[in-house]
Amino acid sequence: KEKKGDSSTNIKIPLTKEKLKEFTDEFKNTTSNSIPYLNRLLKTKNKKLKKIVEKFLLMPVEFQRVRDVKEIQHEGYVYDLEVEKYHNFIANCLISSNSRWATHGSPTIENAHPHTSQKGTISIVHNGIIENYLELKEDLIKKGYKFRSETDTEVIAHLFEDLYTGNLLETAFKVAKKIEGAYAIGVISTYEPDRIVAIKKGSPLIIGIGKDENFIASDIPAVLEYTKDFITLDDGEIALITKKKVEIYNNDGEKINKKPFHVNWDVSVAEKAGYKHFMQKEIHEQPRTISDTITGFSSSKNKELYNLLKKTERLYIIACGTSYHAGLVGKFWIEKYARIPVEVDYASEYRYRDRIINDRTVVLGISQSGETADTRFALLDAKKEGAKTVSLVNVVGSSLSRETDFVLYTYCGPEIGVAATKTFTAQLVSLLLFALEIGLEKGTLNFTDYDFIHHQLLHIPSRVEKILEKDGEIKELAHKYMNATDFLFLGRNINYPIALEGALKLKEISYIHAEGYPAGEMKHGPIALIDEKMPVVCVSPKDRFYEKIFSNIQEVKARKGQVISVATEGDERIKQVSDEVIYIPKTIDTLYPILTVIPLQMLSYHIATLLGKDVDQPRNLAKTVTVE
Ligand code: AGP
Repeated sequence: KEKKGDSSTNIKIPLTKEKLKEFTDEFKNTTSNSIPYLNRLLKTKNKKLKKIVEKFLLMPVEFQRVRDVKEIQHEGYVYDLEVEKYHNFIANCLISSNSRWATHGSPTIENAHPHTSQKGTISIVHNGIIENYLELKEDLIKKGYKFRSETDTEVIAHLFEDLYTGNLLETAFKVAKKIEGAYAIGVISTYEPDRIVAIKKGSPLIIGIGKDENFIASDIPAVLEYTKDFITLDDGEIALITKKKVEIYNNDGEKINKKPFHVNWDVSVAEKAGYKHFMQKEIHEQPRTISDTITGFSSSKNKELYNLLKKTERLYIIACGTSYHAGLVGKFWIEKYARIPVEVDYASEYRYRDRIINDRTVVLGISQSGETADTRFALLDAKKEGAKTVSLVNVVGSSLSRETDFVLYTYCGPEIGVAATKTFTAQLVSLLLFALEIGLEKGTLNFTDYDFIHHQLLHIPSRVEKILEKDGEIKELAHKYMNATDFLFLGRNINYPIALEGALKLKEISYIHAEGYPAGEMKHGPIALIDEKMPVVCVSPKDRFYEKIFSNIQEVKARKGQVISVATEGDERIKQVSDEVIYIPKTIDTLYPILTVIPLQMLSYHIATLLGKDVDQPRNLAKTVTVE
């Protein structure tokens, strides 16, 4: 049936009466989860529908994003005009399209979202962990509920059915009172087919405000294709969403007003733009993202923050993964230019140690996503204990940016590849500028030096460009070393964290075992690992530690390790001790980390793709880790 005046809802699949009946009956007869139902739908003779269903079934496996199911959405909408129940099934598709693997149980179809209640009246997608799910499960089993999955999420679906009052929103408040843990939940019901209810506590949840369509998702890039206006839910809030309206309620059930915010991210940055992978595209975007971050950071100085930092006695930097490595580099800069003692810690460790905090302590959390649970909760704890908190995030409106006293940004646009690349170099740039600004304010750095470093920084994007031109050369190198089973990465001083980052990049996307070490630590143990089969990547630019790392490389060579050096253009001497040299342009000592990391990202990318790995979505990893 064609809905007049709205081209997006034109029928794309001609449905005969018989076919419709077939689908409707099939749907009516099912009380099981939508996945088995979809499996049965696969038997349909309607080829187009079959294709859609096949595509959907691939989603949990392939982690397809919302934009890949646009077709389903539109066609689903058409079906929705015809068959009410079918609409709910399609709505399932929509809310599950950003599926996650279950944290409970193995990654199977049964454990994948959405989870549907016993009678098939309620469907749920959930991000987070329900901590009291076992106890709730026992109660529900006693009441006769049968569980199909090993997940904590299924409990929520049955609980909704059990507590259903005839009003989904009202029921959501009841359910929220029963469940404990961290959660962002999307729920739909066959009884109220025109609405989605969203519940948030702990895990991120955004609402995208479209024109006659609204969305819920965990993060902005997922729905960027459809809207640039968003509302973020805060903990304890529940939202009722229909095509036309979004209503938000606080913990006490009172309706509240929240103003949407607009993001300037271009949709094209969430597309591959001719590159094979997002990671590759994001590596190549770095000249621009570095330059945007220099401009963005410099034009958003917060006087109050720098006044606070002038008086700060101790700065803690907390983060996870790649952001943690950025923090380690940041420590060198902040101590050097701002003369503030800095401790860098993994957020997951910081949270549970007996840290020393007073009102002169500042805690800086670094997080690309601004949603990493470990970083968030560690910052919240520190704040409770009296520390002032600052976040450095890439995602505007993210939890961290809202929960800290001050926020700094990187200006990269969405990063889709699971392996962080462009956000790492942007974090470095922000941390350097942060250190320089504090130094200037405090008087620990004079304006001439500030200006000189700043000026050199402005040349970095074109120098990165030059490294990116070596793509073919680095690919060849990757070909040569792709079959190694272990890699060692060495660096000294400010380039030591780059060795750590190089190792992390390689292991997370190629699954090759890799370790990063400060080169000076070699003789205290790791040197025992070296033999002729071990590639050792040495980050050895011509800085003031050059001679030191040169000797370390000689030690590796003496044990027959295969040395791949990242060195400064014009350094011929390094060839004497290296099997391979990747040259990078010359810069000042302090800026080398922003350059030395680029060839390591490229090397990892090429090794992983040559090995046939899925670099954008490596196994067992999620882009945003919203659980502890
Ligand atoms: C980076 O390549 C990793 N995927 C991962 O270590 C990541 O940096 C970490 O999970 C922290 O994420 P965040 O920056 O969003 O907090």
